[in-house]
Amino acid sequence: MTESHTEAHAEPRRAAKKNSLWAATKRMPRCPKLDEDRHADVCVVGAGIAGLTVAYMLTQEGKSVVVLDDGRLAGGMTEVTTAHLASAIDDRFFEIERIHGEEGARRAAESHAAAIDRIEAIAARERIACDFARLDGHLFLGRDQSEELLDRELEAAHMAGLDGVEKLPRVPWDFFDAGPCLRFPRQGQFHPLKYLAGLAKAIERDGGKLFTNTHAERIDGGRPARVRVNEKHTVTADAVVVATNTPINDRYAIHTKQAAYLTYAIAARVPRGSVPKGLYWDTEDPYHYVRLQSPRKKPGEEPYDLLIVGGEDHKTGQADDQTERHGRLEDWARARFPMIGLVEFVWAGQCLEPIDGLAFIGRNPLDDENVFIVTGDSGMGMTHGTIAGILLTDLILGRENPWATLYDPSRKPLRALGEYVKDATNMAAQYTDWLMGGDVGSADEIPHDSGAILRRGLSKVAAYRDENGTLHERSAVCPHLGCVVRWNPAEKSWDCPCHGSRFDKLGKVFNGPANRDLAPLEDE
Ligand code: FES
Repeated sequence: MTESHTEAHAEPRRAAKKNSLWAATKRMPRCPKLDEDRHADVCVVGAGIAGLTVAYMLTQEGKSVVVLDDGRLAGGMTEVTTAHLASAIDDRFFEIERIHGEEGARRAAESHAAAIDRIEAIAARERIACDFARLDGHLFLGRDQSEELLDRELEAAHMAGLDGVEKLPRVPWDFFDAGPCLRFPRQGQFHPLKYLAGLAKAIERDGGKLFTNTHAERIDGGRPARVRVNEKHTVTADAVVVATNTPINDRYAIHTKQAAYLTYAIAARVPRGSVPKGLYWDTEDPYHYVRLQSPRKKPGEEPYDLLIVGGEDHKTGQADDQTERHGRLEDWARARFPMIGLVEFVWAGQCLEPIDGLAFIGRNPLDDENVFIVTGDSGMGMTHGTIAGILLTDLILGRENPWATLYDPSRKPLRALGEYVKDATNMAAQYTDWLMGGDVGSADEIPHDSGAILRRGLSKVAAYRDENGTLHERSAVCPHLGCVVRWNPAEKSWDCPCHGSRFDKLGKVFNGPANRDLAPLEDE
């Protein structure tokens, strides 16, 4: 592999909008807040791709559905995806085969391919103009990696039933030699918010009810299941699906089997057509992922594509160089794509990595049998979310589904025991923060628009000084299981290093498993 373009930064590296490009290019429909008790056949908590797909498929089966989200439609991690639609599993087929066996690898490949087919079919049936496109995916070698890795993966992909995968002598770029690659045909891409806006419309057309700014604070299974919202109303249902990225109704069982990672993305202008349309991933750990999106051409403007590049993942709450990660990603991209101009968008999102590479979709362990979860996107949230739509609809309707065992949240992946022990050790180590001092000796040292942990006696305080100099203090104790949160200077958030709960600078929770804000100091 050559890196002949590393020296050039001909175009200005201008400040970008700190926003995902999807949010900037599509507004989701507004929905009311729930202000009364309700009953439905199924209550879905979480209106991202998984929740809305489940709701859509159930309404197609004639079920009445209520969907609740504490923010906007698709305003959580779905808004910050890079929306690759892949049956090429990013944890490698040879790993999936080692852990889940040949049959498991086949089912995994089949289910992700079926998810792409289903998105394509729904977009066509509902006439959703969501920029869906079929294209090839390319897996190429990272720095200092051996071609033998591609050969192993080619063999495992064929064993998993992906007969069309082939090895090419080089990635189809004429501007950079990235070496040999595997080509995965019939992958896909789309604009996730345009797609979900179409799904939301179809759900409402078919009688489904969508409520936003509606916080589900308690979920109890049973007959009927009950979801308590906004401290005063209750939704009763025959079944509940918790599709909140990471389950807010599960304290331990799932969170010991998956780990939260932050991942970073940029979208930069390149001349239209200068990079062949496709999905591209390298084999580094963490890996880089690349695709294109073509914005609508404005009058008088040269047409251009946005090159979306992601990577630089790290365990949530466990890095101290977050502010450098977008820059490193841009350096990596400019070294390979010399035509990159303005970086228009930079953003970050959270992935949940299951220890055995596949999502958890099915009955919530240790819960009533009518409570279902979907979590563990594994960086493949668009397809895993769609698989959840197919699988959970079958489970709720009492139908057999060939993927049920593979994705069962209660599974015990013995061949991933090493990962389990590693993650458990890592998590236990995070509690030693209780023994440490604060980040700073006094609140006076915290600059404007910045945060730091203070030690005050035996307590830990999450202190944020706003742009005007006013100090806002909350307990630094994560309400999930008591870890001490850490300040993320890039995202201006409080991140929990144990299971990935995240809170905005004023302590409001926006990513579970915590389901409450950081407590006011007087509540301690
Ligand atoms: Fe579990 Fe914070 S997310 S302790």
